[in-house]
Amino acid sequence: MINLNGTRSIDKFLEKALYDKNYGYYSKKNPFGKKGDFITAPLISPIFSEIILIWVISYWVSLGKPKKFSFVELGPGNGAFCKTFCRTLKKFPDFKESVQIYLFERSERLIKIQKKNINDNNVTWIKNIGQIKDGPVLFFGNEFFDSIPIKQFKIKRSRIYEKFIYFKNDKFKKFIFKKVSKKTIQKLKELNLLRKKGVIEYPQKGLQILELITKKINKLNGGILLIDYGYTKPQGNDTLQSLKSHKKNVFYKNIGKADITYLVNFKLLCKYLLKRKLFLNRIVSQNFFLKKLGIIERTEMLSKNASFKVKSDLYYRLERLLSKKKMGSLFKVLFAANNKNKFNLGFE
Ligand SMILES: C[S@@+](CC[C@H](N)C(=O)[O-])C[C@H]1O[C@@H](n2cnc3c(N)ncnc32)[C@H](O)[C@@H]1O
Repeated sequence: MINLNGTRSIDKFLEKALYDKNYGYYSKKNPFGKKGDFITAPLISPIFSEIILIWVISYWVSLGKPKKFSFVELGPGNGAFCKTFCRTLKKFPDFKESVQIYLFERSERLIKIQKKNINDNNVTWIKNIGQIKDGPVLFFGNEFFDSIPIKQFKIKRSRIYEKFIYFKNDKFKKFIFKKVSKKTIQKLKELNLLRKKGVIEYPQKGLQILELITKKINKLNGGILLIDYGYTKPQGNDTLQSLKSHKKNVFYKNIGKADITYLVNFKLLCKYLLKRKLFLNRIVSQNFFLKKLGIIERTEMLSKNASFKVKSDLYYRLERLLSKKKMGSLFKVLFAANNKNKFNLGFE
């Protein structure tokens, strides 16, 4: 049992529920796949990872095929993406010679699972963005930001309050709202997050990581490609959501046994990246991005001469990735880069 007794801000609560060394969700469970709590795009179809690799190679070509190139996967989960990435890489010897692959992961348990699944000597695990020394560098994260704890606030009678959660005898009791400091108000103002109605969600920790990433990009040249579940028009919704065995769960129940995420505010990320003088493509949906990169043509190629069973499986998985009612439109794609190279493949 995680000891949650007492009062914690939402981000501190999430930090404990998800990443507590002994009892946190990501330290205890292998949450991925059919038997886990959710399925991510690389687990739905390896074609997703192949397509991203093609995009990464095209980016490298656009930079003039630099002899040294760092590729950093943020939050690799169970390593499914990287496994396909490394396997497919063998078909592109020039790029393989140049690329150094880094995996940025904090969960010891997931690192063990990743090492077992990937089993490749060219991959280096890092816990610190500062460990990347060679550029250009490309960061890639699929469902990375939505797993980093956020803070929540609300405005009542012109006063700003932060939301806290109170536990007693290991049970959820109530939410508590506390007045915030002037410094916090200033921060929320700077980020244009203040709104009179609804919930204010502030991904403080996520932005701290983004700050380290943008510094690296500005220093070494490169960019960041992010795919995540999120929105471009903030509505003031409470977007915290929890899943256990693919079913909805109240986020303060089954702690340590259920995943908790939130919807990424892409408008905020764009504002943040532009302020740091990065070039930014427009945000597109996963459907738009994958189609532009030829995912349908690739599936057609693979399904030629395949049995009916294999064919229907390939198209079922393709539909899951592209469906406008689900992943295809709920997942958004962002690419920001150092101004030296305005690369827009998949976005125009
Ligand atoms: C939802 S999973 C994403 C899985 C994977 N990218 C995929 O598509 O299957 C989130 C991942 O981010 C990792 N993570 C979360 N916060 C992190 C942090 N601050 N530093 C490094 N990794 C983190 C988690 O441990 C986990 O591997």
